[in-house]
Amino acid sequence: MIILKTSEEIELIFRAGQIVAECHKLLIQEIKPGMTTQALDALTETCIRDLGGIPAFKGYRNYPKSLCASINEEVVHGIPSGRVLKDGDIIGLDVGAIVEGFYGDGAVTVSIGEVKPSVHKLIQVTKEALQIGLERAVVGNRLSDISSAIQVYVEKHGFTVVRDFVGHGIGRQLHEEPQVPNYGKPGQGPRLKPGMALAIEPMVNMGGPGVRVLDDGWTAVTSDGSLSAHFEHTISIEPEGPPRVLTACF
Ligand code: MF3
Ligand code: CO
Repeated sequence: MIILKTSEEIELIFRAGQIVAECHKLLIQEIKPGMTTQALDALTETCIRDLGGIPAFKGYRNYPKSLCASINEEVVHGIPSGRVLKDGDIIGLDVGAIVEGFYGDGAVTVSIGEVKPSVHKLIQVTKEALQIGLERAVVGNRLSDISSAIQVYVEKHGFTVVRDFVGHGIGRQLHEEPQVPNYGKPGQGPRLKPGMALAIEPMVNMGGPGVRVLDDGWTAVTSDGSLSAHFEHTISIEPEGPPRVLTACF
């Protein structure tokens, strides 16, 4: 069942989402070569708590940290560690916060220092694919209209979408129905209704779409070792017009 949210509930998701956006702003300011991902995690946890939120990921299914930091061929759910960032790395920064029992969830991918044009393009296309998906997140469309638009855009640019992880409904739980795949035929699934809150999160690989999970039980990497990028916004479907992007930076 898809749980529709009241405007008061959407406001709480927005407050959680704004904490996520502030964390992203801070992380992007502070990130540099030589830093460890556990230093990024510490910044994230402090930022969330200073703004009155609770880290959403820490303790979720025993996940140990507040941040997911996924470097290069890591797709999602990289666990912060003593690993040191190098010039030319790319890193997905996935942050979740809880405010008064409601979740916000968002991710960005950034490069550390200089990267090749093809790597910059991977990041750019993934970011644009999220925007393309958001444009389809309007009342009357069906859920898979979002999915299909993302897949078509990504593949048009010569990249592939991950199938094994998907976006999701969000609210009093981090993961609610419906699942929001980044692939599929248009015109399928539930019709989008005002009050739906969705986390839309394309994961895009430079090589094939296959992924596997490392022995740590969390870190998903591309099967072929190719680079991967990830962007995510939490949105609400509005009575008319485009969705409200609850994790956008204002
Ligand atoms: N944005 C990710 C997701 O929706 C973050 C979850 S990390 C976890 O799955 F540790 F909390 F699982
Ligand atoms: Co998510």
